[in-house]
Amino acid sequence: MKLQLLSFLSVDLLLLLSVPVFSSPCHFPAVFNLGDSNSDTGGLSATFGPLTYPYGETFFRKPAGRYSDGRLIIDFIAESLGLPYISAYLDSMGTNFSHGANFATALSTILPQNITLSQGGYSPFSLDVQLKQFSQFKSRSRMIYNEGGVYKDVMPKEEYFSQALYTFDIGQNDLTALYFLNKSAEECIPNALKEFSKVVESIYKRGGRSFWIHNTGPLGCLPYVLVQLPLEASELDSAGCAIRYNNLAQKFNRLLNDTVTQLRKDLSLAAFTLVDIYSVKYLLISQARKQGFKLPLRACCGHGGGMYNYNSNFRCGDTVKVNGTTILVGKSCKNPWKRISWDGAHYTEAANRWVFHQISRGAFSDPAIPLSMACHRKTPTNDAC
Ligand SMILES: *[C@@H]1O[C@H](CO)[C@@H](O)[C@H](O)[C@H]1NC(C)=O
Ligand SMILES: *[C@@H]1O[C@H](CO)[C@@H](O)[C@H](O)[C@H]1NC(C)=O
Ligand SMILES: *[C@@H]1O[C@H](CO)[C@@H](O)[C@H](O)[C@H]1NC(C)=O
Ligand SMILES: *[C@@H]1O[C@H](CO)[C@@H](O)[C@H](O)[C@H]1NC(C)=O
Ligand SMILES: *[C@@H]1O[C@H](CO)[C@@H](O)[C@H](O)[C@H]1NC(C)=O
Repeated sequence: MKLQLLSFLSVDLLLLLSVPVFSSPCHFPAVFNLGDSNSDTGGLSATFGPLTYPYGETFFRKPAGRYSDGRLIIDFIAESLGLPYISAYLDSMGTNFSHGANFATALSTILPQNITLSQGGYSPFSLDVQLKQFSQFKSRSRMIYNEGGVYKDVMPKEEYFSQALYTFDIGQNDLTALYFLNKSAEECIPNALKEFSKVVESIYKRGGRSFWIHNTGPLGCLPYVLVQLPLEASELDSAGCAIRYNNLAQKFNRLLNDTVTQLRKDLSLAAFTLVDIYSVKYLLISQARKQGFKLPLRACCGHGGGMYNYNSNFRCGDTVKVNGTTILVGKSCKNPWKRISWDGAHYTEAANRWVFHQISRGAFSDPAIPLSMACHRKTPTNDAC
């Protein structure tokens, strides 16, 4: 009897030792997201007025609070984890937070900005505010869940907060703020990343253990950036993107990488996956044709702005009078599934889907593990076992 038990034990032990480090898929019952328009599933729209048609036309068949014709990367993430789409925390109608909440809003920055939305500035829900909202969400959802009744059904279970995947996609608007307000990158980026660390540490203290962090995309390939300044041909790279804006994005990403490396050391119980969104999106834009897309630098839902089809006075969903006839901006966007830029600042569902397929397998991640394994920590170098 004893012997048998021993042999069972050793078989188990052998099995345990022989499995690769990242073998068992994680169980993520919830996703909590912080970010900007790249992952806003309805926050800004619920607060400051809904987006209008043709936003959402491809997938939701109606505006769905997302800055795209359809789903965002965060939606594909939720789908692939077998979860419902993540409701926006700021949306008070018909929302269901049982499997997570989304604190992202379009135009959010890491560092608070002092130009309001109505002045053509940024979202008031900067990362520090999103953290406050998360913190309140966590404590109040526990109370509500414990009280039972009808609201229990739309609240996450307490244990979900430690089991959840915490996703981040923010920084792009800090870079535009820097540029458009003529601030110093040397000062602003490190300050922004200090704030980013503080927020991650705070979530860690509240039990968060799995962090999935997107770096920032190639800002200089976005039509709304390309039309901002008159650019000489020499200021564009071979893909037609603005070199100086992309350099700024890469600078941010290098420092983000250092920041995440430090967080891995400081928060030893957490798993951090840093996803190189920049490289994936740049690959898509520079190889658009090869990947089945066309006109990578031209907004699909836009009007004016020459070759970029973007003019901030005639935005996607606006109406504009052309030769006495009123037209809807975006009506001419016939094949969004072949296009990369939806409205000049945001990607189409087709592009988001393409990006998701690249990143979900881990090929652009550090460590290089798939989304389903993102609860596993990077193999420690001093592995004693
Ligand atoms: C607000 O931003 C402007 C432009 O960057 C700057 O000149 C000003 O000092 C800022 N004010 C505050 C209170 O931060
Ligand atoms: C909220 O979502 C959960 C999980 O999908 C579901 O079981 C529950 O019925 C939903 N509640 C409401 C009120 O829709
Ligand atoms: C931005 O900063 C540069 C260098 O500091 C200066 O020459 C330029 O006039 C500034 N532009 C604006 C719009 O403030
Ligand atoms: C971060 O830096 C390390 C080495 O310094 C590199 O191997 C890794 O690919 C970088 N990650 C990203 C997402 O850029
Ligand atoms: C508007 O009218 C001008 C002059 O007749 C013409 O060149 C232009 O193509 C027209 N624009 C549209 C969108 O029909």
